[in-house]
Amino acid sequence: MKKQLNSVTKLSGPVEVPGDKSVSHRAMIFGAMATGRTRVQNLLSSGDVHSTQDCLRAMGIDITGNAKETFVIGRGKHGFKDPHKILNCGNSGTTIRLLMGLLAGQNFSTTLTGDESLVKRPMKRVAAPLTEMGGRFILTNDNYAPLTVKGSPLKGVRYSLKVASAQVKTSLLLAALYANGKTQLTGEIGSRDHTERLLPHFGVRLEQSEKEISLHGTETLNSAEVSVPGDPSSAAFWMAAASMIKGGDIQIQNVSLNPTRTGFMKVLKKMGALIETEITQDIPEPMGNLRVRYAPLKGVHVTAEEIPSLIDEIPILAVLATQAEGETVIHGAQELRVKESDRIEAVALNLRAMGVEVTTFDDGLSIKGPQALHGAVIESFLDHRIAMSFSIAALIASSPTEINGVECVEISYPQFYDVLKSLT
Ligand code: S3P
Repeated sequence: MKKQLNSVTKLSGPVEVPGDKSVSHRAMIFGAMATGRTRVQNLLSSGDVHSTQDCLRAMGIDITGNAKETFVIGRGKHGFKDPHKILNCGNSGTTIRLLMGLLAGQNFSTTLTGDESLVKRPMKRVAAPLTEMGGRFILTNDNYAPLTVKGSPLKGVRYSLKVASAQVKTSLLLAALYANGKTQLTGEIGSRDHTERLLPHFGVRLEQSEKEISLHGTETLNSAEVSVPGDPSSAAFWMAAASMIKGGDIQIQNVSLNPTRTGFMKVLKKMGALIETEITQDIPEPMGNLRVRYAPLKGVHVTAEEIPSLIDEIPILAVLATQAEGETVIHGAQELRVKESDRIEAVALNLRAMGVEVTTFDDGLSIKGPQALHGAVIESFLDHRIAMSFSIAALIASSPTEINGVECVEISYPQFYDVLKSLT
């Protein structure tokens, strides 16, 4: 599906962003592992979360409800049924990697697959540490889906994470709940911490320090009430648009202010953006209200340490960099090469199509601003964040822009184009 977009002279008003994608997946999976009825408010209803729900339903989990509240009837961590069919995780890396951990210790085997993007993404990063715990996997070409998880008895291990990935970390913590003994994770544990916040909310005793997370396999989950904060990665598109368009002024309520997710906001502030925040809730997930107004921006250097807290926002940050005075340099973001698309190449190719000079590195990119954008034909590579980032770029281009493959916004933000219309 194609979309034609023109530049705008106005962008203001209140914005509703949908529930956070990471918290939504976890609320469904933890609810399914818990005993009893978990109630989830403001769950994201989108392609990725539906993939998780479909897989859980195929394993005997009842999930009901409407747009406002969703109920998961958990059957306890040993209550999953053999699905007797291949589970399709669609486009969702979180679904497949978290389920690999959940399924490693079951007493049945399961085959997981996904769409043409997901089957190109690395799965050994999860399978290798799970194998140390006693998990057994058959991976396509030793790294990819379709893959089979052969349910096996697991043992707790001490493992040092090699990549700062919340999907890998969570997968291991889920497997740890089925393992004999204690699992200790060290190394790159500083990625988004929704699992560490939510497992205790479901009654799991988890020990954590800056250096280590540990969990005992005897722990079980109780049902819980979860209120999902607005997704800061979805909010980022409107924060960027309001910062770049003269007179821009947007207000967002109940968005996640979890410090492991606010890296984009911090960098945007460093660039000179006008952002006001008000915290309204702290536990289990910090959230609050935001107001962002237009301000002249300056270039910024983003370092490897900052990357995990803004990893999904780098495509829109690159668009912002074109409007900032001076150079923006991003390093330490090699993970972008294995997201829903190779986001370094996708961003560079589309920015160049709009007339921007960009330098790419193995682990990032640099852009000297300000540079004017002209309209172009944009390729989304069926990557939701690329489609939305360049839809925002189109709003400041000097001529109309056509975006190919916009149906992928359904993966994380189905209402994106309706919100865009209401603001412009
Ligand atoms: C996610 C973790 C991140 C992020 C993804 C969602 C999660 O991926 O990019 O969109 O919910 O755990 P990695 O774990 O690969 O860093």
